[in-house]
Amino acid sequence: MAPEPGMDMELYEKLEDLAEKSGVQGLEEYEEAIRAAAVTGDEKLIDRLQGELTDLAIEDPYPFVQPAAEKIKGPIEYGDELQRGVRAGFQPNDFGQMAITGRNQMGKTNLAKVLLKELIQQGITVHVFDPKESFRGLINQLPDIHVLNLTEDVLWNPFAPPVENERLRKFWRSKVIELINELFDLLSGSGSFSQNAIYQLYKKARDQDVYPTIHDLKDYVEARMEKLRARSIRYNYAERLLTRLEAIISVIGDTLKPQVGFPLQDLAGENLVFEWGNASTRIERFLILSIFLSQYYWRKTRYRKRGTIDQVIIVDEAEALFDPRDDKSFKKGVPFTKILASRSKELGLAIVVINQNPSLSEGIKDNVETWISFAPSEEHTHSVGKEMGLDEEQEAKLTELQTGECIVKMGRYPEPFGVKADLF
Ligand SMILES: Nc1ncnc2c1ncn2[C@@H]1O[C@H](COP(=O)(O)OP(=O)(O)O)[C@@H](O)[C@H]1O
Ligand SMILES: [Mg+2]
Repeated sequence: MAPEPGMDMELYEKLEDLAEKSGVQGLEEYEEAIRAAAVTGDEKLIDRLQGELTDLAIEDPYPFVQPAAEKIKGPIEYGDELQRGVRAGFQPNDFGQMAITGRNQMGKTNLAKVLLKELIQQGITVHVFDPKESFRGLINQLPDIHVLNLTEDVLWNPFAPPVENERLRKFWRSKVIELINELFDLLSGSGSFSQNAIYQLYKKARDQDVYPTIHDLKDYVEARMEKLRARSIRYNYAERLLTRLEAIISVIGDTLKPQVGFPLQDLAGENLVFEWGNASTRIERFLILSIFLSQYYWRKTRYRKRGTIDQVIIVDEAEALFDPRDDKSFKKGVPFTKILASRSKELGLAIVVINQNPSLSEGIKDNVETWISFAPSEEHTHSVGKEMGLDEEQEAKLTELQTGECIVKMGRYPEPFGVKADLF
């Protein structure tokens, strides 16, 4: 706001300074009062203003730069900037990748629903992985959204490559072996046994022009064991693998029965909520990661429109899937989570991870374009502050955020700012 002729410039600047420190600079009601005080010299008004502004500055110094409206706007609107109330919105690219953290009950899932609705409206496909049945109510509120129970409604063969393609078939085979061996702790001996068994099965299945299934693998291992000397080393390897396979089959045997599996490709373009979390985490994780991986490689062979996000995967309670321990546990090559997070965006696939604990796997953290934090628990405050590059005062402000309020930091506008998220 420009000073006017006849103003007490010294007073004007002093009050403006105070207003800036209190974080109310630019707010119309204060600007008008400041101008009136500087023009009229009204003692009472000056006193009142000084008092109010000083109180504000002491009570609640707002430690964030107020963003210009155009810096934080986008077609996917999700809330009001905390100080001035201008609308905040994302562009599709802000989603690749996105982390939403904060302690329980502060508004993470609500924000995810708001984003989901807006994304769908923009014609972007959304898949949600939801272990807490938080999204199932949406079927009554949004058209064109389907809720599937991962272990009951989905038919899936992790051995079937995402695309019929000889080169990919071999590559896919090695990925599935890696996934099974890593997730089910098959060490070098039992790991090579499993690798060998899967090679044999693919060979046999190829002659019959089908893909092997987990059930075939179990049968194969059992048959091998009959021929091996009981308690020999190889027998023990086989037994270790068999134990894992029996566990998988007892939990999701029906899901994994079909030779061809769920035509995920046909569902490209459908908005889906996959509910999970009723069975063994490790086994469901295997299922989910193989689905992720399949979507990723399906896109890799098909996708042409580089750089345009057309699908967003929202993973609520993401720790169970993107476990930081993966960074160390994957022995061969790069963990999938890292591949997924670092390469998906260029294939038009964005991932939104939602978690209380900010210590997600490096693969995700290294590729976060947008970080959104609701009030964190005390133990996580500092690590969130560090991830978001907040200074001390900004970090302190994190802990004062109310339900539904969050701090947002985007790649395209790297100054963090506060937002009150819309209520879904
Ligand atoms: N933006 C908001 N505005 C008002 N109330 C909210 C907002 N976000 C969340 N809430 C309230 O807080 C509750 C918990 O929100 P939720 O999104 O489930 O938290 P979280 O996923 O972080 O545990 C919601 O049921 C809702 O009543
Ligand atoms: Mg939640």
